[in-house]
Amino acid sequence: MTDPKTPPKTFHVKSFGCQMNVYDGERMSEMLGARGMIAAAEGIDADLVVLNTCHIREKAAEKVYSDIGRLKREDGSRPMIAVAGCVAQAEGAEITRRTRSVDIVVGPQAYHRLPGLIDDALAGRAAVDTDMPEQSKFDALPARAKQGRPSAFLTVQEGCDKFCTYCVVPYTRGAEVSRTWTEINDEVRFLIDAGVKEITLLGQNVNAWSGEDDKGRAQGLDGLIRALDALPGLARIRYTTSHPNDMTEGLIRAHAEVEKLMPFLHLPVQSGSDRILKAMNRSHSRESYLRIIERVRTARPDIAMSGDFIVGFPGESDAEFEETLSIVREVAYSQCFSFKYSPRPGTPAAGMNGQVAPAVMDERLQRLQAAINADQLAFNRATVGKRTTILLERAGKHPGQIVGKSPWLQSVIVENTDARIGDLIEVDIVSAGPNSLGGVVTARQAA
Ligand code: 5AD
Ligand code: SF4
Repeated sequence: MTDPKTPPKTFHVKSFGCQMNVYDGERMSEMLGARGMIAAAEGIDADLVVLNTCHIREKAAEKVYSDIGRLKREDGSRPMIAVAGCVAQAEGAEITRRTRSVDIVVGPQAYHRLPGLIDDALAGRAAVDTDMPEQSKFDALPARAKQGRPSAFLTVQEGCDKFCTYCVVPYTRGAEVSRTWTEINDEVRFLIDAGVKEITLLGQNVNAWSGEDDKGRAQGLDGLIRALDALPGLARIRYTTSHPNDMTEGLIRAHAEVEKLMPFLHLPVQSGSDRILKAMNRSHSRESYLRIIERVRTARPDIAMSGDFIVGFPGESDAEFEETLSIVREVAYSQCFSFKYSPRPGTPAAGMNGQVAPAVMDERLQRLQAAINADQLAFNRATVGKRTTILLERAGKHPGQIVGKSPWLQSVIVENTDARIGDLIEVDIVSAGPNSLGGVVTARQAA
């Protein structure tokens, strides 16, 4: 630090990993902003840098250490550094032993205490907080700040009770907890007033959300979605990530009946092999997963499916990997995330026999991604010729271009429009590539 006794005036928050981390990063920024600190565009220029980390795979977890190294300035000084997020939760004080450049370690359930931890660090006291306090951070955080963006994330559920054998989330994020109905509704209303048109409800197992509505009735995610659907000003609702076992009949029905609920479902399956699914403790089978998709597609025939896959889980044979390829062919996803298995400390799978050789994993990942990419392109091409509505989200790469999102979560590039970011406009899809579509504003819309 330049001067360890001077309270930081500027800050920079950098988030890695999932969308829930992005949301937490925004809330941390808002909290520091509410205390009069000013956001700096680059970490190296800031007095305080918060690295909001991800622990899901080894590569993600190691990234924090290379980032810390990069925060050294030419004159030898560095910002005050706080490691937040899931690496903080998993490694705790070990981080300060591994590198002396870290001043604060704060877990994902304790970051509302960051201001106090900054004071501790300034006073030379140990500033490590990985508690999972009774009182939710959401009660302690200041009200949300204006977004200035048409699409916002909102964490409604955190933690996971599923204990898949490869996954650190149940340890780093703790047990499943739902935010209250009132809290969520208030935050959504605030976001709508600030100009937000699309809300993505977030949770590690978002479809396990449960609560009581304002009349004391028990509600699930479908009830919450129906309540948000009734709010004027909100145009689109999405949710992610879902566990197959929590796809209730009510939620599936919502896909048929709730107009604002977008036709997109991220439903990780991880593997197409029943033996591997069992070893992963996924508590669903290939067949039961496929049956859920069938029901969702009956409710909403145009739904775009997305998924997560892990290749090279311990003991995965060639034949079992082929079953993963075949489930991809069977579902025809619109997009997917796929990963090489990464052993995580403290998880049951890390100690299992039959760890798969890296070269085998590489080859499987390549084949899987080729199959996924082909499906993604096919899905995109199938939208050419459709007339649809897009929500304009950001400026494009080239002058005059604006990028919007289709209902199926594809990026659509439009040119020659007077419409602005935040507008919902009608377009004809005229071209498709692997990662985006081209749209032309319809005459009716332009008029
Ligand atoms: N190794 C590889 N991928 C993992 N994921 C979770 N844990 C691991 C791990 N140990 C993947 C799963 C999950 C996504 C968020 O990350 O596919 O759905
Ligand atoms: Fe991890 Fe499984 Fe929970 Fe998802 S459902 S967060 S993969 S333990």
